[in-house]
Amino acid sequence: MADTQPLVLGFETSCDETGIGLVRGQTLLSDALATSMAEHERFGGVIPEIASRAHLEAMVPTVHRALADAGVGFGDVDAVAVTSGPGLTGALLVGVAAAKAYALALGVPLYGVNHLAAHVAVDELEHGRLAEPSIAMLVSGGHSSLLLVPDLAQDVQPLGQTIDDAAGEAFDKVARVLGLPFPGGPPIDRAARDGDPRSIAFPRGLTGPRDAAYDFSFSGLKTAVARWVETRERAGEPVPVADVAAAFQEAVVDVLTAKAVRACREHGVDHLVVGGGVAANSRLRAVAQERCDTAGIVLRVPSPRLCTDNGAMVAALGSRLVEAGVAPSAPDLGADSSLPVTVVSR
Ligand code: KG4
Ligand code: ZN
Repeated sequence: MADTQPLVLGFETSCDETGIGLVRGQTLLSDALATSMAEHERFGGVIPEIASRAHLEAMVPTVHRALADAGVGFGDVDAVAVTSGPGLTGALLVGVAAAKAYALALGVPLYGVNHLAAHVAVDELEHGRLAEPSIAMLVSGGHSSLLLVPDLAQDVQPLGQTIDDAAGEAFDKVARVLGLPFPGGPPIDRAARDGDPRSIAFPRGLTGPRDAAYDFSFSGLKTAVARWVETRERAGEPVPVADVAAAFQEAVVDVLTAKAVRACREHGVDHLVVGGGVAANSRLRAVAQERCDTAGIVLRVPSPRLCTDNGAMVAALGSRLVEAGVAPSAPDLGADSSLPVTVVSR
């Protein structure tokens, strides 16, 4: 039975990870990754030109590694899927060009997919079919969105998003202020374990009664942390890194989980899926679980490795599209750096 399902090869190059994944049906066969993270570290953020060049160099070897890990050959591939947006234009273009070339050479259909929907689809590889409708919360270095997902293959509706920094961006910027390495999420997560989240009251953005219920804002929080640290330093006092990390993280997690649960309640939806790099955060996972348990919501979060950008998520969504009979992309598929979340495939 399993072998009769189509084998999908997925390409992800929207940011700094070159991800190539192979999925058959909803089964993950391989997930090969190359990253240019180290090359961006000294800049404190991803430099698009460096990322594009690194994708180009990593592409062919990573495709070969994905096939070898899965124990399949090019001739076994039934369809190709690629992130066509949103993301960094130059980086996206490398993946789209490569995916088009492979699809053409192999004579298989090509699906240009939305990166955000792919972050949701990846959860099906671990937890089976997504309940529809579900609420999805995507939190990463580039996006923070709440989505209503009536049909992952063709109907994804935005409920809210960040009006300034993405959640991961806030982690990265605060880490810099605290002298922690890039990307900032993992070191803040670790430092926070030894800190007191109640030691400092940092602001919760857009949580007033007249604020947009599902939008996020993290820029004010980031500035508040920077001011707090500056004041300490100017007074010649030591900065309690663990406490600042814990209090900052708590402010982010509190807002994210409160709004996600509220979106479920107000839309009568009892399934929440959380994805994106920040979903790897241990405190976010714990608080989301507590609040979902209290509200009677089933919470699904992929394992941390599948939360960050990878090729398997693209293959997972591609597989869904094949199954749903969605039309493949035209041969002139391009990259769209600001592809709206409503466009699942194009
Ligand atoms: O999804 P992703 O790999 O790439 C984007 O599409 O942006 O997310 C990367 C982001 C970075 O900002 C990183 O700091 C954050 O995810 N991140 C975390 C954790 N692990 C990664 N943020 C908080 N806690 C973590 N454990
Ligand atoms: Zn992402």
